[in-house]
Amino acid sequence: MTEIDDLQHAGVFRPAGEPSLRWGVLGTGWIAEQFVAGTLRHTPQRIVAVGSRSAERSAAFAAQHGIERSHGSYSALIEDPGVEALYVGVTAEAHKGLALEAIAAGKPVLVEKPFALTAAEAAEVRDAARSAGVLAMEAMWTRYLPQSDAIRLLCEQGALGDIELVSADHGQAIAHDPASRLLRPDLGGGALLDLGVYPLALASELLGTPVSVVAAGNVLESGVDGTVAMLLSYDGSTARALLSTSISTRTPTEAVIAGTAARIELEGPFFVPTGFILAGPAFGEEPILRWRDQSGIAMHEGLSYQATALARFAGEGRTESPLHGLDESVAILSTIEAVRAQLTPYAT
Ligand SMILES: NC(=O)c1ccc[n+]([C@@H]2O[C@H](COP(=O)([O-])OP(=O)(O)OC[C@H]3O[C@@H](n4cnc5c(N)ncnc54)[C@H](OP(=O)(O)O)[C@@H]3O)[C@@H](O)[C@H]2O)c1
Repeated sequence: MTEIDDLQHAGVFRPAGEPSLRWGVLGTGWIAEQFVAGTLRHTPQRIVAVGSRSAERSAAFAAQHGIERSHGSYSALIEDPGVEALYVGVTAEAHKGLALEAIAAGKPVLVEKPFALTAAEAAEVRDAARSAGVLAMEAMWTRYLPQSDAIRLLCEQGALGDIELVSADHGQAIAHDPASRLLRPDLGGGALLDLGVYPLALASELLGTPVSVVAAGNVLESGVDGTVAMLLSYDGSTARALLSTSISTRTPTEAVIAGTAARIELEGPFFVPTGFILAGPAFGEEPILRWRDQSGIAMHEGLSYQATALARFAGEGRTESPLHGLDESVAILSTIEAVRAQLTPYAT
């Protein structure tokens, strides 16, 4: 088996060497916590302010993370003149409005997934960002992880041949708390928006926007989708994506990119820093190579790479991520809408 070290360092988003921006973080929930902890620990990015709907929660969060300033509203944070870049880490129904506010303030903005609740909302943010010339980026953090660079390199080198099938799943057993935001349609709950975006984003990166989507799944009593299987087809191609997502059950959270010459098998969870093998078509043979993330940046600390990416893109004067543009964020939400239209209400 080949161990390759050069690809270990293929990650283009290195923490050092990019502009060190002064960030403001919107929200004090679970993901805001993970983003702040990972970014402060692994990058020279500075987090100088936090904003919450509650001044108390904001102050407590700031004290916990050594953040200089706290604000009792999101708008006050966005307007803070000492803040250069914003991270929107709140529930999804607020993403569009806060992204628009950030853009109006002329500040680069990293918006948690899902980028918005609908494709129309996402298109509104995209159009505002483009007309203002402000960098707006979906926080699809997996795209900026070292393994994703290594896989892009292998694909560019033709190691897989033609990609014929992408299969990926993201299921977690997280819908059992009736108070969970995941069960609330008004907060952007449901498997597709919260977890399904990961397999959909992987397929989108590798195969583009599907022309046809066949889906089966259920809608839970609260009105959010529960468990969904999807088959995506592409224009002028025999390639397919076979994806699934669930908030009712834990699935392996693995991904396979199968080409005519070889395949990549990503270890689960495929959306965090992980490892993969590149394997040839024959049964029983050793993999051609085995790659493992050796950065020491584990699990959700990997959120820090997207902060580095935004800092780099802002420094380069870009208004969109070259790896995940806003048209793609809109297209993924369109696919989710096409999937959702095929689900069965209240099926058990
Ligand atoms: N990238 C990832 O791996 C990952 C993982 C988990 C979640 N996420 C995404 O991050 C976002 C937030 O998820 P989370 O897990 O952090 O949720 P959470 O722990 O429930 O926190 C949500 C935060 O949103 C703010 N918020 C604003 N309006 C709200 C409302 N009407 N109800 C409840 N909270 C509201 C709250 O901040 P204040 O109370 O301080 O105002 C709250 O702290 C979602 O878009 C989710 O999909 C991403």
